[in-house]
Amino acid sequence: MSLTKALHQPVMLTTTLEWLAIKPGQWYVDATFGRGGHTQAMLQQKARVIAFDFDSEAINYGKTHLQRFIQTGKLILIRRNFDQLQETVANLEKKGIVSAISAILFDFGTSVDQLKSKERGFSFAHEAPLDMRMDQKLAVTAADLLRFLNEKQLRQLFWQYGGEKKARAIAHAIKQTNQPIETTQALVQLVLNIKGKRHGKLHPATKVFQALRIAVNSELDNIITVLPQAIEILASKGRLIAISFHEGEDRLIKQTFKSWQLENLGKILTKKPLTPNEQELSFNQRARSAKLRVFEKI
Ligand SMILES: C[S@@+](CC[C@H](N)C(=O)[O-])C[C@H]1O[C@@H](n2cnc3c(N)ncnc32)[C@H](O)[C@@H]1O
Repeated sequence: MSLTKALHQPVMLTTTLEWLAIKPGQWYVDATFGRGGHTQAMLQQKARVIAFDFDSEAINYGKTHLQRFIQTGKLILIRRNFDQLQETVANLEKKGIVSAISAILFDFGTSVDQLKSKERGFSFAHEAPLDMRMDQKLAVTAADLLRFLNEKQLRQLFWQYGGEKKARAIAHAIKQTNQPIETTQALVQLVLNIKGKRHGKLHPATKVFQALRIAVNSELDNIITVLPQAIEILASKGRLIAISFHEGEDRLIKQTFKSWQLENLGKILTKKPLTPNEQELSFNQRARSAKLRVFEKI
Protein backbone atom coordinates (compact mmCIF):
# COMPACT_ATOMS: atom_id res chain seq x y z
CA MET A 1 0.00 0.00 0.00
CA SER A 2 1.38 3.43 -0.90
CA LEU A 3 1.95 6.04 1.80
CA THR A 4 -0.85 8.20 0.43
CA LYS A 5 -3.29 5.30 0.50
CA ALA A 6 -2.36 4.35 4.00
CA LEU A 7 -2.83 7.81 5.47
CA HIS A 8 -5.43 9.50 3.41
CA GLN A 9 -8.38 8.39 1.37
CA PRO A 10 -9.46 10.92 -1.27
CA VAL A 11 -13.22 11.41 -1.27
CA MET A 12 -15.20 9.75 -4.10
CA LEU A 13 -11.99 8.93 -5.94
CA THR A 14 -13.39 6.33 -8.36
CA THR A 15 -16.34 8.53 -9.33
CA THR A 16 -14.08 11.55 -9.70
CA LEU A 17 -11.72 9.68 -12.00
CA GLU A 18 -14.63 8.42 -14.10
CA TRP A 19 -15.87 11.96 -14.70
CA LEU A 20 -12.39 13.36 -15.23
CA ALA A 21 -12.01 10.83 -18.07
CA ILE A 22 -8.29 11.53 -18.22
CA LYS A 23 -6.52 11.57 -21.55
CA PRO A 24 -2.80 10.95 -21.08
CA GLY A 25 -0.61 14.00 -21.57
CA GLN A 26 -3.41 16.57 -21.27
CA TRP A 27 -3.55 19.28 -18.61
CA TYR A 28 -5.86 19.14 -15.58
CA VAL A 29 -6.29 21.44 -12.58
CA ASP A 30 -6.64 20.20 -9.01
CA ALA A 31 -7.65 23.44 -7.30
CA THR A 32 -7.55 21.91 -3.81
CA PHE A 33 -4.42 19.76 -3.55
CA GLY A 34 -4.61 18.91 0.20
CA ARG A 35 -2.76 15.66 0.76
CA GLY A 36 -2.58 15.22 -3.00
CA GLY A 37 -4.76 12.12 -3.08
CA HIS A 38 -6.72 13.10 -6.17
CA THR A 39 -3.68 14.64 -7.84
CA GLN A 40 -1.66 11.49 -7.35
CA ALA A 41 -4.39 9.32 -8.85
CA MET A 42 -4.61 11.71 -11.82
CA LEU A 43 -0.85 11.55 -12.32
CA GLN A 44 -0.97 7.77 -12.19
CA GLN A 45 -3.36 7.95 -15.14
CA LYS A 46 -0.76 10.05 -16.98
CA ALA A 47 -2.49 13.40 -16.60
CA ARG A 48 -0.43 16.56 -16.32
CA VAL A 49 -1.61 18.53 -13.33
CA ILE A 50 -1.56 22.12 -12.07
CA ALA A 51 -2.39 21.90 -8.37
CA PHE A 52 -3.24 24.74 -5.98
CA ASP A 53 -3.33 24.94 -2.23
CA PHE A 54 -3.00 27.98 -0.01
CA ASP A 55 -1.83 25.92 2.97
CA SER A 56 1.99 25.87 3.13
CA GLU A 57 1.94 22.48 4.90
CA ALA A 58 0.00 20.91 2.02
CA ILE A 59 2.44 22.35 -0.52
CA ASN A 60 5.47 21.19 1.47
CA TYR A 61 4.01 17.71 1.70
CA GLY A 62 3.47 17.68 -2.07
CA LYS A 63 6.97 19.00 -2.81
CA THR A 64 8.46 16.19 -0.76
CA HIS A 65 6.29 13.27 -1.78
CA LEU A 66 5.54 14.11 -5.41
CA GLN A 67 8.96 15.53 -6.22
CA ARG A 68 9.52 13.18 -9.15
CA PHE A 69 6.43 14.48 -10.92
CA ILE A 70 7.47 18.10 -10.31
CA GLN A 71 10.97 17.45 -11.64
CA THR A 72 9.63 15.88 -14.82
CA GLY A 73 7.21 18.76 -15.42
CA LYS A 74 4.10 16.63 -14.96
CA LEU A 75 3.01 18.45 -11.81
CA ILE A 76 3.02 22.19 -11.22
CA LEU A 77 2.35 22.76 -7.53
CA ILE A 78 1.38 26.29 -6.55
CA ARG A 79 0.90 27.83 -3.14
CA ARG A 80 -1.87 30.27 -3.95
CA ASN A 81 -5.55 30.88 -3.33
CA PHE A 82 -7.51 29.29 -6.15
CA ASP A 83 -9.30 32.63 -6.54
CA GLN A 84 -6.27 33.48 -8.74
CA LEU A 85 -6.86 30.49 -11.00
CA GLN A 86 -7.41 32.31 -14.28
CA GLU A 87 -4.45 34.65 -14.00
CA THR A 88 -2.14 31.82 -12.93
CA VAL A 89 -3.13 29.53 -15.77
CA ALA A 90 -2.97 32.41 -18.29
CA ASN A 91 0.62 33.12 -17.21
CA LEU A 92 1.59 29.47 -17.61
CA GLU A 93 -0.04 29.44 -21.05
CA LYS A 94 1.78 32.63 -22.06
CA LYS A 95 5.08 31.04 -21.12
CA GLY A 96 4.18 28.03 -23.26
CA ILE A 97 4.29 25.69 -20.26
CA VAL A 98 0.61 24.74 -20.27
CA SER A 99 -1.99 24.32 -22.99
CA ALA A 100 -5.75 23.70 -22.92
CA ILE A 101 -7.25 22.67 -19.57
CA SER A 102 -9.29 19.46 -19.93
CA ALA A 103 -10.90 19.44 -16.49
CA ILE A 104 -10.84 21.20 -13.15
CA LEU A 105 -11.44 19.50 -9.82
CA PHE A 106 -12.54 21.20 -6.60
CA ASP A 107 -12.65 19.15 -3.40
CA PHE A 108 -13.68 21.88 -0.98
CA GLY A 109 -13.30 22.08 2.77
CA THR A 110 -10.53 20.95 5.06
CA SER A 111 -8.02 18.17 4.55
CA VAL A 112 -7.50 15.30 6.95
CA ASP A 113 -4.13 16.81 7.89
CA GLN A 114 -5.73 20.12 8.81
CA LEU A 115 -8.44 18.43 10.86
CA LYS A 116 -6.00 16.13 12.63
CA SER A 117 -3.48 18.85 13.40
CA LYS A 118 -3.13 19.30 17.14
CA GLU A 119 -2.04 22.94 16.74
CA ARG A 120 -4.24 24.52 14.13
CA GLY A 121 -7.56 24.54 15.93
CA PHE A 122 -9.84 23.05 13.24
CA SER A 123 -11.13 20.24 15.40
CA PHE A 124 -13.11 20.16 18.61
CA ALA A 125 -11.30 16.89 19.39
CA HIS A 126 -7.97 18.50 20.37
CA GLU A 127 -7.05 21.33 22.68
CA ALA A 128 -5.44 24.04 20.52
CA PRO A 129 -5.52 27.79 19.96
CA LEU A 130 -8.65 28.75 18.02
CA ASP A 131 -6.80 29.51 14.79
CA MET A 132 -8.49 27.72 11.84
CA ARG A 133 -6.56 29.52 9.11
CA MET A 134 -5.97 27.15 6.19
CA ASP A 135 -3.73 29.79 4.63
CA GLN A 136 -1.15 30.72 7.26
CA LYS A 137 -0.80 34.16 5.62
CA LEU A 138 -4.33 35.17 6.56
CA ALA A 139 -4.46 37.84 9.24
CA VAL A 140 -7.60 36.93 11.18
CA THR A 141 -8.06 33.78 13.27
CA ALA A 142 -11.24 32.25 14.67
CA ALA A 143 -10.38 33.63 18.13
CA ASP A 144 -10.11 37.12 16.57
CA LEU A 145 -13.60 36.75 15.10
CA LEU A 146 -15.03 35.80 18.50
CA ARG A 147 -13.30 38.82 19.99
CA PHE A 148 -14.07 41.46 17.39
CA LEU A 149 -17.49 40.58 15.97
CA ASN A 150 -20.49 41.80 17.93
CA GLU A 151 -23.26 39.54 19.17
CA LYS A 152 -25.49 40.07 16.16
CA GLN A 153 -22.65 39.41 13.71
CA LEU A 154 -21.70 36.22 15.54
CA ARG A 155 -25.31 35.04 15.57
CA GLN A 156 -25.55 35.60 11.81
CA LEU A 157 -22.24 33.83 11.24
CA PHE A 158 -23.26 30.71 13.21
CA TRP A 159 -26.65 30.61 11.53
CA GLN A 160 -25.63 31.38 7.93
CA TYR A 161 -22.48 29.30 7.72
CA GLY A 162 -23.37 26.58 10.21
CA GLY A 163 -27.17 26.40 10.31
CA GLU A 164 -26.72 26.36 14.10
CA LYS A 165 -30.17 26.54 15.72
CA LYS A 166 -28.76 27.82 19.02
CA ALA A 167 -26.83 30.60 17.23
CA ARG A 168 -28.47 33.32 19.30
CA ALA A 169 -27.72 31.76 22.69
CA ILE A 170 -24.17 30.84 21.73
CA ALA A 171 -23.38 34.32 20.40
CA HIS A 172 -24.86 35.82 23.56
CA ALA A 173 -22.81 33.55 25.84
CA ILE A 174 -19.59 34.35 23.95
CA LYS A 175 -20.11 38.06 24.50
CA GLN A 176 -21.06 37.57 28.15
CA THR A 177 -17.98 35.63 29.28
CA ASN A 178 -15.32 37.53 31.20
CA GLN A 179 -12.53 35.47 29.64
CA PRO A 180 -11.97 35.74 25.87
CA ILE A 181 -12.55 32.36 24.15
CA GLU A 182 -9.14 31.52 22.75
CA THR A 183 -8.96 27.74 22.63
CA THR A 184 -10.95 24.96 21.02
CA GLN A 185 -11.89 23.45 24.36
CA ALA A 186 -13.07 26.75 25.83
CA LEU A 187 -15.43 27.06 22.87
CA VAL A 188 -16.52 23.42 23.07
CA GLN A 189 -17.34 23.84 26.75
CA LEU A 190 -19.35 26.99 26.10
CA VAL A 191 -21.35 25.22 23.38
CA LEU A 192 -21.90 22.14 25.58
CA ASN A 193 -23.17 24.38 28.37
CA ILE A 194 -25.87 25.61 26.02
CA LYS A 195 -26.64 22.55 23.93
CA GLY A 196 -25.94 19.76 26.37
CA LYS A 197 -24.10 16.54 25.54
CA ARG A 198 -24.13 14.81 22.16
CA HIS A 199 -27.43 13.17 21.20
CA GLY A 200 -27.17 12.32 17.50
CA LYS A 201 -24.23 11.59 15.23
CA LEU A 202 -22.89 15.15 15.22
CA HIS A 203 -20.83 16.59 18.04
CA PRO A 204 -22.77 19.60 19.45
CA ALA A 205 -19.94 21.97 18.46
CA THR A 206 -19.69 20.77 14.84
CA LYS A 207 -21.76 23.57 13.32
CA VAL A 208 -20.12 26.36 15.29
CA PHE A 209 -16.67 25.10 14.29
CA GLN A 210 -17.74 24.77 10.66
CA ALA A 211 -19.18 28.29 10.61
CA LEU A 212 -16.02 29.84 12.07
CA ARG A 213 -13.78 27.95 9.65
CA ILE A 214 -15.84 29.07 6.65
CA ALA A 215 -15.67 32.69 7.81
CA VAL A 216 -11.95 32.68 8.68
CA ASN A 217 -11.06 31.30 5.24
CA SER A 218 -13.70 33.21 3.20
CA GLU A 219 -14.66 29.85 1.76
CA LEU A 220 -17.91 30.84 0.06
CA ASP A 221 -16.46 34.08 -1.34
CA ASN A 222 -13.57 32.11 -2.82
CA ILE A 223 -16.00 29.77 -4.56
CA ILE A 224 -18.04 32.69 -5.90
CA THR A 225 -14.84 34.25 -7.27
CA VAL A 226 -13.36 31.13 -8.83
CA LEU A 227 -16.33 29.55 -10.62
CA PRO A 228 -16.54 32.13 -13.46
CA GLN A 229 -12.77 31.85 -13.89
CA ALA A 230 -13.00 28.08 -14.07
CA ILE A 231 -15.57 28.00 -16.86
CA GLU A 232 -13.56 30.62 -18.72
CA ILE A 233 -10.28 28.67 -18.74
CA LEU A 234 -11.77 25.24 -19.52
CA ALA A 235 -11.25 23.90 -23.02
CA SER A 236 -14.30 23.06 -25.13
CA LYS A 237 -15.88 19.85 -23.71
CA GLY A 238 -13.80 20.40 -20.58
CA ARG A 239 -15.38 19.38 -17.28
CA LEU A 240 -15.69 21.05 -13.94
CA ILE A 241 -16.06 18.63 -11.04
CA ALA A 242 -17.01 20.00 -7.64
CA ILE A 243 -17.16 18.03 -4.40
CA SER A 244 -18.79 19.96 -1.58
CA PHE A 245 -19.47 19.15 2.04
CA HIS A 246 -22.18 21.48 3.23
CA GLU A 247 -25.39 23.07 2.12
CA GLY A 248 -23.98 26.56 1.42
CA GLU A 249 -21.29 25.28 -0.92
CA ASP A 250 -23.56 22.86 -2.73
CA ARG A 251 -26.26 25.50 -3.25
CA LEU A 252 -23.73 27.88 -4.81
CA ILE A 253 -22.47 25.21 -7.19
CA LYS A 254 -25.93 24.00 -8.14
CA GLN A 255 -27.16 27.54 -8.87
CA THR A 256 -24.06 28.45 -10.84
CA PHE A 257 -24.27 25.31 -12.98
CA LYS A 258 -27.97 26.02 -13.64
CA SER A 259 -27.30 29.58 -14.73
CA TRP A 260 -24.45 28.44 -17.00
CA GLN A 261 -26.76 25.93 -18.63
CA LEU A 262 -29.37 28.65 -19.21
CA GLU A 263 -26.68 30.82 -20.80
CA ASN A 264 -25.78 27.89 -23.10
CA LEU A 265 -22.27 27.65 -21.73
CA GLY A 266 -22.58 23.88 -21.53
CA LYS A 267 -24.58 21.22 -19.75
CA ILE A 268 -25.03 19.74 -16.31
CA LEU A 269 -23.95 16.08 -16.41
CA THR A 270 -25.24 15.20 -12.94
CA LYS A 271 -28.96 16.02 -12.60
CA LYS A 272 -28.80 15.11 -8.93
CA PRO A 273 -25.57 15.33 -6.93
CA LEU A 274 -23.65 12.07 -6.69
CA THR A 275 -22.85 10.78 -3.21
CA PRO A 276 -20.42 8.20 -1.82
CA ASN A 277 -21.50 4.57 -1.76
CA GLU A 278 -21.91 2.46 1.37
CA GLN A 279 -18.52 0.86 0.90
CA GLU A 280 -16.71 4.20 0.93
CA LEU A 281 -18.72 5.38 3.92
CA SER A 282 -17.73 2.28 5.85
CA PHE A 283 -14.06 3.33 5.85
CA ASN A 284 -14.20 7.07 5.25
CA GLN A 285 -16.40 9.04 7.62
CA ARG A 286 -15.24 12.35 6.13
CA ALA A 287 -17.08 11.42 2.94
CA ARG A 288 -20.48 11.21 4.61
CA SER A 289 -21.72 14.65 3.55
CA ALA A 290 -19.95 14.76 0.17
CA LYS A 291 -21.89 15.78 -2.94
CA LEU A 292 -20.31 15.68 -6.36
CA ARG A 293 -21.58 17.69 -9.32
CA VAL A 294 -20.22 17.86 -12.87
CA PHE A 295 -20.62 20.50 -15.59
CA GLU A 296 -19.33 20.12 -19.15
CA LYS A 297 -18.44 23.20 -21.19
CA ILE A 298 -19.95 23.44 -24.67
C1 LIG B 1 -10.57 18.60 1.20
S1 LIG B 1 -8.93 19.10 1.03
C2 LIG B 1 -8.46 18.39 -0.49
C3 LIG B 1 -8.04 16.97 -0.39
C4 LIG B 1 -7.44 16.45 -1.66
N1 LIG B 1 -8.41 16.35 -2.72
C5 LIG B 1 -6.78 15.11 -1.43
O1 LIG B 1 -7.23 14.11 -2.00
O2 LIG B 1 -5.83 15.05 -0.68
C6 LIG B 1 -9.10 20.78 0.60
C7 LIG B 1 -7.78 21.52 0.44
O3 LIG B 1 -8.06 22.69 -0.29
C8 LIG B 1 -7.35 23.75 0.24
N2 LIG B 1 -8.09 24.97 -0.05
C9 LIG B 1 -9.31 25.31 0.42
N3 LIG B 1 -9.67 26.51 -0.08
C10 LIG B 1 -8.66 26.92 -0.89
C11 LIG B 1 -8.44 28.08 -1.68
N4 LIG B 1 -9.32 29.06 -1.74
N5 LIG B 1 -7.30 28.15 -2.40
C12 LIG B 1 -6.37 27.17 -2.34
N6 LIG B 1 -6.52 26.06 -1.59
C13 LIG B 1 -7.65 25.93 -0.88
C14 LIG B 1 -7.23 23.46 1.73
O4 LIG B 1 -6.11 24.08 2.28
C15 LIG B 1 -7.14 21.93 1.76
O5 LIG B 1 -5.81 21.52 1.79
